[in-house]
Formats: sequence, C-alpha cells, structure tokens
Amino acid sequence: MPLDNPQRYTVTAALIYANGPIHIGHIAGCYLPADIYVRYLRATGRDVAFVSGTDEHGVPITIRAQKEGITPRQVVDKYYVQIKKAFEEFGISFDIYSRTSKPIHHQTSQEIFLNLYNSGNFTEEVTQQYYDETAKQFLADRYIVGVCPVCGNENAYGDQCERCGSTLSPTELKEPLRSMLSGSKPVLKETKNWYLPLDRMQPRIEEYVNSHPEWKSNVAGQCQSWLKEGLKPRAMTRDLDWGIRVPLPDTEGKVLYVWFDAPIGYISMTKEWAEQQGRDWELYWRDKDTKLVHFIGKDNIVFHCIIFPAMLMHEGSYILPDNVPANEFMNLEGDKISTSRNWAVWLHEYLEEFPGKQDVLRYVLAANAPETKDSEFTWKDFQGRNNSELVGIFGNFVNRAVVLTQKFCDGKVPVKDDLTETDQAVLDELAQYPDRIGQAIEQYRFREALTHLIDLARLGNKYLAETEPWKVIKTDPLRVNTVLNIALQITANLSIVCEPFLPFTAGRLRTMLNLEKLHVTHTGWINAGKGDLLPEGHPLGEAALLFEKLEDQVISQQINKLHEAKRMNELAVKTVPEAKPEIQYDDFAKMDIRIGTIVEAERVPKSDKLLKLKVDDGTGRRQILSGIAKHFTPEEVIGKQVTFLANLAPRKMMGLESQGMILMAEDRDGSLSLIGPGKAVWNGGTVS
Ligand code: 2FM
Ligand code: ZN
Repeated sequence: MPLDNPQRYTVTAALIYANGPIHIGHIAGCYLPADIYVRYLRATGRDVAFVSGTDEHGVPITIRAQKEGITPRQVVDKYYVQIKKAFEEFGISFDIYSRTSKPIHHQTSQEIFLNLYNSGNFTEEVTQQYYDETAKQFLADRYIVGVCPVCGNENAYGDQCERCGSTLSPTELKEPLRSMLSGSKPVLKETKNWYLPLDRMQPRIEEYVNSHPEWKSNVAGQCQSWLKEGLKPRAMTRDLDWGIRVPLPDTEGKVLYVWFDAPIGYISMTKEWAEQQGRDWELYWRDKDTKLVHFIGKDNIVFHCIIFPAMLMHEGSYILPDNVPANEFMNLEGDKISTSRNWAVWLHEYLEEFPGKQDVLRYVLAANAPETKDSEFTWKDFQGRNNSELVGIFGNFVNRAVVLTQKFCDGKVPVKDDLTETDQAVLDELAQYPDRIGQAIEQYRFREALTHLIDLARLGNKYLAETEPWKVIKTDPLRVNTVLNIALQITANLSIVCEPFLPFTAGRLRTMLNLEKLHVTHTGWINAGKGDLLPEGHPLGEAALLFEKLEDQVISQQINKLHEAKRMNELAVKTVPEAKPEIQYDDFAKMDIRIGTIVEAERVPKSDKLLKLKVDDGTGRRQILSGIAKHFTPEEVIGKQVTFLANLAPRKMMGLESQGMILMAEDRDGSLSLIGPGKAVWNGGTVS
C-alpha cells in the first residue's frame, strides 16, 4: 500500500554502469525526473536521502576493459570521475554519488547474501556452463561467439546477435563456437551456483506488486507480463573474476551476480552518506514510515519491481520500494540513441559547448520526457522551445517586470493600490499554481508540471499585455505601481516553483529580486502562491537576461556534429579482420609472388569492376584482370610497379583470361592501394 503523506523519503536513481559517459537518454529517462522530484520534496520540507552512484561490476565493465585494452579497475576509475562531474555540473542534486567498488558496499552485499543464505532462501544448483580451457575461466554469455541461428551471422554473441537483434542463449548458437578471450572452442563444464528461487517466491511477489495499483501503467504492465509467464529461479552468483567475492567457502573464481549487488548499492551508499552526516541510515531503509522510490529506465523494471523486492522481503529487515516510476526511452533525431553507434548527445560535451545553459537542456528534456511512451529529442525542437518558451514566455515576462520596475519605480517594489477585478483574478489564479505543480510532481507527471510552470509565466505575460503599464504610466502612475507589484509577486513565485526544474534560473532570479535579504528561499514552497512575497519598498537587484535566443547556425552545427560522429564511428568500428587458420611454411612457399610493371590498362566493357591489365613480368606481358575499376582509372595505374601472384591457375572472367592476381591492401574505409616494392626493382623479382 502506498504511504499517506510521508515525511521521510529515500529516493534512488539507477546506478549506471561505469563503462561510458552519460547521454541525454539517461538524463531524460531517470536522473532529471528524480532530481525534479527530490528538489520539490526538499522545497516542501520533507527529509530526503537522494542516493546514486556507479555500478562497477559485471560483464559490461570487463567488456569495456577488453575493448580499451585497460583493466576493469582503470575503466571504472575513469568513468566514475567523468560521470560524477557531469552530474554535478548539470545540477543533479544527489546527497551522495558513490560507487559499488567501495568496501562498505562489498561488506553490505556479502552480509545480505549471507542473511539470505543462512535463512535458507537460496537453492544450490549444479549446471553445465561454457568454459575456456586456455584462459582457464568460465565464460559469460557475452564472451561466447558463434553462428546466429536466426540470421547466420558468424559473429553472434551468446546473449545477442548484433546483426539481427535476436536475444540468444549460448546453447542456441550454432558451431563453430569460440571464446572471445582466447579464441579457443569453449567446452561445457559443471559449476555450482546459488539461485534465488523466484518460482517459489512468486505468490508473495504477486501480492506485493498487486498492492500497488498506483504504479505507472508501463511499469505495472511489465510486472504483470513477467508474473504471468511464471518467475524462474535466477542465479545470484556467477563464475567471473570481476565483482564481489561470494562469502562462502570453496568459491574461488565466483562473484555475486551484478544485479544482486547493484541495488544493494542504494543501501550501502545511504549508509556511507548517513555516516558522513551523523545520521541513522536505518531510518531510511528500515522505518516503515519512509517512502522508498526508485527512478530507473524501462530496461531495469524487472530488477527493481521483482528481483530486488524479492531479496528484501525474504531478508526481512528492510522496507520495500513504494514506487518505481520508470520511464521509457528517448530517441534522437528519429533514431534510437546508441552508444556503440555514437548516436547520442553526450552530457559532458553539451556542458562544454553550451556553458551556462544547463537549464535549457533540463527544460527541453523534461518537456519531452518519455513518461508513458518513447519520446524524441531533436535539435530543432531544442531551439524552438528555447526561443519560444524560455526566451519568449518565461524570460520575456521576468525581464519586463524587472525592467519596468527599474524604469518607473526606481528599482523598488512599488506600493499596491486598490485592486481591480483583473488584479484579483490574477492573484487568485497565482495562488493555485504551487499545488497544481506539486500534485503533478508527486504523481510523477513531470511534463504536466512543467506545462503548469510555463503557464504561470504566460499568466504574467497576459496580465502585462492587458494592463499595459508602459502606456498607463503617462496617465495613471499609481495604477502602474499596482500592476508592477503584482507582476513582481508572480516573478518571486516563479523563483520558488521553477527551482525543481530550472535550479540555475531560480538562483539568477533570486539574485535579480534580491531575495536572500528577505529569506524567501527556494525551499519555501509553503509560501508559494502568495501575492505578498515581496514587501513594498524592497530594492531589486540588477536586471539580467535569463535566456538568450539560439541561432540556426548553432543548431545546424550540432546536427552536423551528430552525423559526423556517427560516420567516424562507423569507420572506427570496422575492426581488423580476424586471423585466418594457421598454415605451414610449405603452404606459403607454394605461392609464386613477383614484382611486375603495369604497362597497359583499360576498362573491361560491360563491367564496372574490372580493369584489363598488361603486366611486364620480366619475360613478357601477361594479362591480368583486376577488380579495381571502382578505385583506379586506367591512367592512374599505368607505369606502376605492383606485386602479383604469378602461379594462380588461369581463370576466365567476362570471357577474358586472367593469368595471375594483383595484390592489394584494403584500408579501413574500404579503399584499395597497390602494393609496390619500397624502391624500383627488376620486373620478375620474387617476393618471399
Ligand atoms: O542498466 C544499468 O546501467 C545498471 N547498471 C543499472 C543498475 S540500477 C541498480 F540496481 F543499481
Ligand atoms: Zn542474427
């Protein structure tokens, strides 16, 4: 059952793998909604622990290490620092951002594992797993390569075929199988692991999930489909050398499953924070009046709604997640965001390229958050929302209110005179906004909350347009005083209610309105809605523009950058071709490789690939057909010394005989180069 008006919250945001930088999809899906929620809770005086960090174990880390040619430890050290810094600069206000490699996390995970073990909540199972006899290691699914049973891709992984996208298990792969570690053929070997018998636990989990009818429909839907299919036991230990040691005897080479230890990270990080703060961590994890909320992306739903709660409820001493407001995915310019294809807007790059514009991205990502279905980020929309909503509505209203006060009222909050009906209506409307925004946030409807926020600025604009103080000043300065007083009260209210979404802007507004002096702080949600936040005579600070227009050129640069990065990546991911099977010297010696000079060249009629070459081989001119017409014109190759295979059996192509083969080097982008000797040599010279 959801808690009724709780005062203490533990709010977590997914522990992202420390194997790469973060992009806008992560932010929109998880971290920004979490931050808006937490900032709002703090503003309303609730006691919150906002906890996150990096997930530093498991195969995703070892794969990255292998790709970069560094150790897993070096990988996590590098990305932890980079990710933490980007979050800080972006204003994600974690109370602690830690990492799962910390000793306190290892201890906490082992302790919970042992509690479950000792209370008989695990089953032991011996199964057959693939093993690499050369590397002396069991192989994670990802490390087994074979032929995809669906599309025939010869380089499919044991968990997925990247060509056709099929999800696989290693036993489904067709031969030949090979280990990514040593290249040798994996063999099946027995191993013992500890399983969480989710099948047996299903009734309790079902009861728990069903006690939360308020969960978002995308979350509830996924849970119900898992439950309907019937839960299966899942191994909580793995044969791997990177992770937290299994705290049982004779378990050399085994670690805790990364999805066992990662969510426990929320607990261990809370402990670390509480210790730093001199607080009691147990209040945040064991007190039934604390509301536990996990912000995650949709790919993490089963772990947070089924597996982690199953661990906690059987361990017995922890509260269970009260809500898991998972988001769907955000796409980018019409395509799925993809780290491996470099199709992403990286947060650290945005921060460098758009200094001081954190709130613009926060605004656009919140406005397009994939709350109920996948959503889309485009640079054009980014520009449009900035120019029309932030500059045109929000910035424009605040600027007019402050600048007109500077101009007509000596920069001080003017005295309110008799209120007209319009004034009263605006003040009544203003009073409703904080609740409207707050309720939407509490129900995880951040897009709606943001719409209300911008509507409040719209209300201010409409009020100024209707009352026209710039005209009325000539006839009725007292009336202008009243209007500007009300406009400034709306501005002061904006500084409070915009803070969860636009914390940097809220800060600038506070300076502009000189609010620190009045103790009107962003945490004063309780005061929001009032029409007298600013006392008469209060001096304002200097007017400054909150937002600026983004020109077309800035936007097209970003679009070009995106496409260019993807293109470069496509070139870079072309890996060095795999080695061919070993041969003996005799196999090599059978090849008669020689140097010759191309003396004639012409295109073969009706073929766009073939050039007909005459090669001086020292004894005469031999005809060789070569498939290089797309790379060279005949004129380009005439006179070039080349290397050719002289004893290749003659073959006919397009009705013409070819006596040998010209050797070529292929570059990463597929372009070809002739292979000549380092200096001119005699034609017919052998290559050995
Ligand atoms: O998907 C991921 O990046 C996981 N590392 C998320 C883990 S969330 C939690 F369990 F820690
Ligand atoms: Zn396939």
